[in-house]
Amino acid sequence: MDPEKGFEQTIERDQRIEPRDWMPDRYRTTMVRQIAQHAHSEIIGMQPEGEWITRAPSLRRKAILLAKVQDEAGHGLYLYSAAETLGADRTDLTEKLIEGRQKYSSIFNYPTLSFADVGVIGWLVDGAAICNQVPLCRSSYGPYARAMIRICKEESFHQRQGYELLMTLMRGTDAQREMVQNAVDRWWWPSLMMFGPPDADSTHTAQSMAWKIKRHTNDELRQRFVDMTVPQAEALGVTLPDPDLRWNEERGHHDFGEIDWSELKRVISGDGPCNAERIATRRAAHEEGAWVRAAASAHAAKAKTREVA
Ligand code: 3HC
Repeated sequence: MDPEKGFEQTIERDQRIEPRDWMPDRYRTTMVRQIAQHAHSEIIGMQPEGEWITRAPSLRRKAILLAKVQDEAGHGLYLYSAAETLGADRTDLTEKLIEGRQKYSSIFNYPTLSFADVGVIGWLVDGAAICNQVPLCRSSYGPYARAMIRICKEESFHQRQGYELLMTLMRGTDAQREMVQNAVDRWWWPSLMMFGPPDADSTHTAQSMAWKIKRHTNDELRQRFVDMTVPQAEALGVTLPDPDLRWNEERGHHDFGEIDWSELKRVISGDGPCNAERIATRRAAHEEGAWVRAAASAHAAKAKTREVA
């Protein structure tokens, strides 16, 4: 069968495209783009919360936060491995990230000003990640969809630990409740921006939906996240910072206010509160880790010669 026909038939039948299958070059490049951006997001995403590991208020909170940040590193590694099945090279991807030639999620360019931010990131940012990533478990590219299954299980732990942390703070003092509300005020709108630009301005959504890379559009997932989060905010006792947020019986969804798309554009183009710091930290870690990579390759080369001898 003509390989293009085979590819189209596989997509049509909701089956998986595997690394050895024929695929259009554009499918390959858009998969590398999305998987690389996702992997970069996981690795950069370790920084905002990582800053609080040494300042966690108890051993229990420190242990939970350590586990979560470690999970994000693992997510990055699964995803770089998935990108490598498409012929990408993780060193090259890392260099592209450091040189600003590849993106990572806008959400990680905001500062974490208090320990309540750790809870709000778990609740809102990982909550948004779950909304966005569960459908990706059905993405048409096999290695990506399979990586998502384990990632989504771990994201659920991330979301739950964040919500439990906030519940504890909300049962604390007025100052702790104020700390939570302040963090919610700062993270709510950037969490909605995580889902990408509105569908009308999304360059990739139509093609990604046609290839079943994406199963829902940016706006559909954003709406799903808002509908899921409003009752959680009520249970927590916090106010979401949007005066236009209200249930619309007719639509069967929550209406919400206009997102400041100029902020998303600014942050994506590198002009967010922490972009320079995040990349500088990633660059330093890459440079300081060069000796580890050299030692690992020397060890692998030695092991190879021992095998051959
Ligand atoms: N931050 C940075 N860049 C963004 C963005 C965001 N929030 N939203 C969109 N973009 C970029 C896109 O990469 C694209 O850039 P390009 O044209 O240079 O490639 C451009 O803006 C247009 O956006 P589109 O909607 O057309 O792009 P996509 O179809 O790729 O949709 C997406 C964007 C919804 C983020 C999609 O790429 C996706 O679902 N990616 C996989 C999930 C992911 O990467 N999540 C990021 C967070 S990781 C995370 O949550 C970790 C967890 O532990 C917290």
